[in-house]
Amino acid sequence: MNAVPDPHATLLARLSRVLPEAEITLAAPLIERIGALKREHGAAVVAHNYQVPLVSAAAADFTGDSLAMAQFALASPARTIVVCGVRFMAETVKLLCPDKRVLLAASEAGCSLAESISAEAVRAIRECCPDVPAIAYVNTSAAVKAEVDICCTSANALRVVRSLAVPRVIMLPDQHLAGFVARETGVEVIAWGGQCEVHTRFKAADIRSYRAATGATVLAHPECPEEVQAEADFVGSTGAMAAFLRERRPPRAMLLTECAMADNIALDCPQITFLRPCNLCRHMKATTLERLAHALETLTETIEIAPALAERARAPIARRLAVG
Ligand code: 13P
Ligand code: SF4
Repeated sequence: MNAVPDPHATLLARLSRVLPEAEITLAAPLIERIGALKREHGAAVVAHNYQVPLVSAAAADFTGDSLAMAQFALASPARTIVVCGVRFMAETVKLLCPDKRVLLAASEAGCSLAESISAEAVRAIRECCPDVPAIAYVNTSAAVKAEVDICCTSANALRVVRSLAVPRVIMLPDQHLAGFVARETGVEVIAWGGQCEVHTRFKAADIRSYRAATGATVLAHPECPEEVQAEADFVGSTGAMAAFLRERRPPRAMLLTECAMADNIALDCPQITFLRPCNLCRHMKATTLERLAHALETLTETIEIAPALAERARAPIARRLAVG
């Protein structure tokens, strides 16, 4: 006779690679409560790769990059989607799934990139270059998305630009992602000066000396400055970095991105030693198990977008999804 697996023991075995046992044991009742609330409301929880393992691995139904989160939410039969991430991610889910209830566990969680540009600024840029297609990074508000032709994420920015088959594009708001796209595609990019407050903290000279001392494989997010990207063996979205490591399994790796990424990958790749010159995103870290349970208990942290705005912002997101 096969023994029924003990859910606490299973959780403990998986999380103990990255967390002390006492922390997991203390969190277990809350994790169980979240599971019961999800069943009660028919809800699915989607988490970004920057969420801590207690949220991503123990409470979420899906963890991935911002493109994959939206794709999961769209395909999910759940009528309620709880986003463990930041506002632009929850807004994107709401735009794609207008008939679902969408909750953001930490409803105040913003993003320095999304806050760096307004709809008025996009209109002004477009007036200066009326024939140039405009691309908004998904890290923007719905109001900004409503002003552009197509959206992209870091996972599909190169595909989106190549799909347009034009010599010049406007790409907003991240100057470093825009530089990455220009270098990789040869397309002239008119950029905005936005930066991610987390990725701009990495310094090329530090990375060079860490690598010389450790021989680690270096992976960077395209939101890192150009000189930092130049030090990396691989540049890609959070999902692309995870896929690279799961396939290659280098003995040592250094992720130039948010700290939680390494913990999430270490759950499945215990043989990789992660060196951690990582930085925390305060917006992502606003999500906790307590905030997730509260959102599911009260169903109050809902995302609403005015229908006229939603209609204009949805089209560029749908075009991005069509590119894949
Ligand atoms: P990804 O699209 O790579 O998940 O990145 C989102 C983000 O906010 C990175 O800082
Ligand atoms: Fe925004 Fe940077 Fe945080 Fe990503 S890491 S959510 S780009 S502030």
